[in-house]
Amino acid sequence: MPCVVVVGVQWGDEGKGKVVDLLAEEADVIVRFQGGSNAGHTLVVGGEKFVFHLIPSGILRPNKRCVIGNGVVVDPEVLLEEIRSLKERGYLQDDSQLLVSEAAQVVMPYHKAIDKGREGRSSKPLGTTGRGIGPAYEDKVSRVGIRVGDLLHEEVLRGKLERALEEKNPYLVHVLGQRGLDLDPLLEEMLRYGESLRPYIVNTSRFLAEEIARGRRVLFEGAQGALLDVDHGTYPYVTSSNTVAGNACCGAGIGPTQIDFVLGVVKAYTTRVGGGPFPTELRNGTGDYLRERGGEYGATTGRPRRCGWFDAVAVRHAIRVNGTGGLALTKLDTLTGLDRLRICTAYRLHGELIEEFPSGAELLERCEPVYEEVEGWKEDLTGRRSLLELPAAARNYVERLQELLGVPFYLISVGAEREETFFLKDPFSEGR
Ligand code: IMP
Repeated sequence: MPCVVVVGVQWGDEGKGKVVDLLAEEADVIVRFQGGSNAGHTLVVGGEKFVFHLIPSGILRPNKRCVIGNGVVVDPEVLLEEIRSLKERGYLQDDSQLLVSEAAQVVMPYHKAIDKGREGRSSKPLGTTGRGIGPAYEDKVSRVGIRVGDLLHEEVLRGKLERALEEKNPYLVHVLGQRGLDLDPLLEEMLRYGESLRPYIVNTSRFLAEEIARGRRVLFEGAQGALLDVDHGTYPYVTSSNTVAGNACCGAGIGPTQIDFVLGVVKAYTTRVGGGPFPTELRNGTGDYLRERGGEYGATTGRPRRCGWFDAVAVRHAIRVNGTGGLALTKLDTLTGLDRLRICTAYRLHGELIEEFPSGAELLERCEPVYEEVEGWKEDLTGRRSLLELPAAARNYVERLQELLGVPFYLISVGAEREETFFLKDPFSEGR
């Protein structure tokens, strides 16, 4: 039975939460494998809005198991708040629904302080979410991180925190001009979090191996998007993890041979939050129109998202680095009301036409988009449930995107609600 990975193929905020929620109906297990509470997945179910930062969106469906894999950086304060709020709203009544990897890294208060402190002092800030993501991944790779399992062992945790504070405090105080942290209150706070999380902490790699062996359907939920990937994105304006599908393996503790299918989620236009190059950005009334109609404000930080035309060059790159077999097209309805639409099909760089996405931010900053123009439509799309029901101009737009991207659409979303979607193909029906 298949394992499907769902990833964003732009700069995040493609609407993965809704796609994962829909596919979760067919899955038994839903897994987060990278990122942390920088992610914000918004879901609207029965008119009720939910925003998740850490817990996989599948948690709203009873009898599904949701896993936070070892590749995630976990802020225990955020996680416990999500657990509390879900329970209060009648979800997550059974603790065995949620599993948190003992090997996942913990986002500590000093990570958040360092993230914010650096951004505040930098002359060229990255525009991070301030959630401590970069500093937490740095510590993981430097082998000085605290792992979720450590929160259950006082002596281990004390030793690791002592060593961490020896480095963090001078850095916080002397480099960033912030306050240092005291060991004892920090240790106490972390042990308290550990106690509250104890029912969820397990070896999730082993759990997943057993589930896969039993033929269960597993859905891997990516956070952010390929253009924010630390290797394949617009470095250095990226997040600190590999956001591409390949990292589902490392971040969940499964092998590449277990993955059956990669579904990319792509928005009908482009958005980006924070700094960094964005060739098709619209700093005009059309950009404002997209932002307002699409509700393009960060789910995590509330920041207005930068909006622009669809960029087929960037998405083709993302499709390649993910091994994307199919796409989910989201927010087509947001484009309603625009007379003409533009699609970026190539870039002009130093006078030459290029069709490949350049590596790194410096070259991309110099790229000018080359557009083709297509007709827009005025009709409301939210009630449409098939390609044939779409107005001709919307259908043409979808078909043109598919031609340019070379990968089939599996589902199309025309509104925020679960029902405002139609499937063209089922990702779980794909074999290895
Ligand atoms: P960080 O992940 O907080 O370190 O932020 C690095 C960059 O990634 C910034 O430009 C953020 O705005 C962006 N980013 C991080 N998470 C998301 C997300 O979930 N959606 C969109 N952008 C994100």
